[in-house]
Amino acid sequence: MQSPLEPTGLALDPKPPAALVFHDVDHEYYVRRSATVRALAGIELALATGEFVSVVGPSGCGKTTLLRLAVGLLRPSRGTVSIGGEPVRSPRRDVSFIFQDAVMLPWFSVMENVTLPIRIAGGDMAMARLRAGELLDRVGLTGFHNATPMQLSGGMRQRAAIVRALMTRPRILLMDEPFGALDALTREQMNLDLASIAEASGCTVLLITHGISEAVFLANRVVVMTPRPGRIAEMIDIPLPRPRNRRTLAAPEFAALCDRVREHFQHPGSEMASAYE
Ligand SMILES: Nc1ncnc2c1ncn2[C@@H]1O[C@H](COP(=O)(O)OP(=O)(O)OP(=O)(O)O)[C@@H](O)[C@H]1O
Ligand SMILES: [Mg+2]
Repeated sequence: MQSPLEPTGLALDPKPPAALVFHDVDHEYYVRRSATVRALAGIELALATGEFVSVVGPSGCGKTTLLRLAVGLLRPSRGTVSIGGEPVRSPRRDVSFIFQDAVMLPWFSVMENVTLPIRIAGGDMAMARLRAGELLDRVGLTGFHNATPMQLSGGMRQRAAIVRALMTRPRILLMDEPFGALDALTREQMNLDLASIAEASGCTVLLITHGISEAVFLANRVVVMTPRPGRIAEMIDIPLPRPRNRRTLAAPEFAALCDRVREHFQHPGSEMASAYE
């Protein structure tokens, strides 16, 4: 038996499993009978609960593949992808996904669209409408609860998509270029909104983006990937204080971190160079 004087800290306080883990992950797509495309190689990445990780890398390096693996739409060719210590085998209720172009049902109102996941799950619709109302107001869609998606701008639709993704209170939020189609000004406002929403929700977030400043502004860590097959070239810690806001954007440390990420894409003539601004 253990003496009460022996240090027991480790045994009593086991570290909770990381929220999302890629361990030694390779992925190959089978294109024809004997041909394969190697999309990812040796991915080793663990997101702590509540962590925000951005992924940048050249087109075709396997970023969307990474998200498809995390959501359980694909199985890795090698290695494991796990959430809360359990291997991901199929899409999970506690994981939400936002794509580049938010798809909304055009004949439903914004409120009906964002509460649809709860309706499908047979949840409490009165509670859902209350939560949706609060979230819609928070992302600046006050007065648009009963509008149809056609009456919204692209940026407003993306805001509604974020609300919809948060309705089920996911543990993990996966985003693939969610603001790629937006103009620079709207995109900057969306980044400010997303920073405050992510900080308030406590969600673990994995964001794929082509915007270096967006990646740095939002994340605790930025993962830079190599051209295909995508490997992790560097993981850069972003120790900027939170809450992140307009002041963050003006800080010299912010600019220095953006430069550090940008260096990966600045070797003239390289595949990395053509990918980013
Ligand atoms: N279903 C598929 N079948 C065969 N090959 C695929 C399939 N999906 C993706 N690929 C290939 O795998 C590689 C990685 O694709 P992926 O979509 O993950 O890249 P990406 O980093 O998201 O690119 P982008 O920045 O352009 O969105 C690419 O070379 C692509 O052609
Ligand atoms: Mg992609």
